Amino acid sequence: MDEKKGVYKVRDIKLADAGRRQIEWAESRMPVLMALREKYSKSKPLSGYKIAGCLHVTKETAVLIETLAAAGAEVSWSGCNPLSTNDEVAAALAVGGATQIFAWYGMNVEEFYWCIDRTLDFKPNLTLDDGADLIFTVHNKYPNLAADIIGGTEETTTGVHRLRAMADDGKMMYPVIAVNDAETKWDFDNVYGTGQSTLDGIIRATSVLLAGKNVVVAGYGHCGKGVATRAKGMGANVIVTEVKATAALKATLEGMQVMPMDEAAKVGDIFITATGVKDILVGRHFDSMKDGAIFCNTGHYDCEINIPDLEERSANHRQIRTNCEEYLLSGNRRVYLLAQGRLVNLAAAEGHPSEVMDMSFANQFMSQLRLVRVDKGEEIMERGKVYDIPVEQDQEIAGVKLSTQGFKIDTLTEEQLAYSLDYAAGT
Ligand SMILES: NC(=O)c1ccc[n+]([C@@H]2O[C@H](COP(=O)([O-])OP(=O)(O)OC[C@H]3O[C@@H](n4cnc5c(N)ncnc54)[C@H](O)[C@@H]3O)[C@@H](O)[C@H]2O)c1
Repeated sequence: MDEKKGVYKVRDIKLADAGRRQIEWAESRMPVLMALREKYSKSKPLSGYKIAGCLHVTKETAVLIETLAAAGAEVSWSGCNPLSTNDEVAAALAVGGATQIFAWYGMNVEEFYWCIDRTLDFKPNLTLDDGADLIFTVHNKYPNLAADIIGGTEETTTGVHRLRAMADDGKMMYPVIAVNDAETKWDFDNVYGTGQSTLDGIIRATSVLLAGKNVVVAGYGHCGKGVATRAKGMGANVIVTEVKATAALKATLEGMQVMPMDEAAKVGDIFITATGVKDILVGRHFDSMKDGAIFCNTGHYDCEINIPDLEERSANHRQIRTNCEEYLLSGNRRVYLLAQGRLVNLAAAEGHPSEVMDMSFANQFMSQLRLVRVDKGEEIMERGKVYDIPVEQDQEIAGVKLSTQGFKIDTLTEEQLAYSLDYAAGT
């Protein structure tokens, strides 16, 4: 481990060159964020602001961090999952100097929170989260810091759920913007990003053929739909499990089979949980699984697969390949857990492709600017509330993204606009 006290703690600083090449690769595929960097590196609207971030340390996140720094912010960062840090990128960030960085792949839970604590040492006035662990650490451990925090932003569905519950309970001490819920985030990153990278993680960890397999996807929300449709496109027989009737109905109309997990457990070859809810695969499911079954999770936390239940049933387990552990169950059945039940797309692959993170992180960047406007009194936000992304921001980001891809779209004529607002017009 390489450490410079108060500045970085990363796996191996010598990996920096390799990390820098990855960051440059991501930059070349993130035109929206790079255009924002170009625009705001001159006016530096984030000068004087300190941003603590807790979000997967990937090459795309590095582009976000260096964009925040280019716009004048002081930044301090940790990863938001013990198995999602790209050590090469972390080293490049440590050397690059745009941020303090405390992150390495394979840390334990105690180290995970130690890293978050270090990002709070410089007393931030803005927070940026993926899963809300940073915000919760401020509230639970360092509540005295909250008064000087203008606001925060939250990247993922589970984090937004937790924060809305906290706000409803009257416990949240500063405003948070729900970046996840932006159309240009939720409908793209979660669907296309998680869809592709989850299969990428499974393939890297197992090298199995998906065609012809029974792939069980738990949850047919944004992520689940992305995973299911991509698995189907690769020739898998996809089975969806759901608790929400409309989501299950949509799955049937997309040609998926739908059944309860108790039934799916008996026939599935590969299981992917994407619900954000705990205990999707539990003991009785492991009891009925076929020999050779593979299971993994792509939801935010590692509670969707009940690993203690699995361990309780297993005479022994051994590592077969990187991120693939075999558990021996009754009847000599061998089943395989990928990436310790943590986000398989980040732990076993590289997370979402840069192209899709471009829009998510443009939303993050613009939301941090919005919080600065709040600080300057140009917009009012109540402490303790969760705010959505403005519709105009979604359209702006999508418009820039389209133009960088060389696409143009039509504009409503004045007559069309008037017609669309005219409630009296009929046949
Ligand atoms: N892997 C990644 O990189 C990545 C990216 C984005 C989001 N996420 C995480 O993925 C999870 C899902 O996010 P989303 O945006 O798809 O949420 P979503 O709300 O759009 O969908 C979740 C779906 O799961 C269903 N569900 C809930 N409990 C269930 C149960 N017991 N059995 C079956 N289905 C159930 C819900 O009805 C819903 O349709 C969250 O934890 C989110 O934070 C992960």
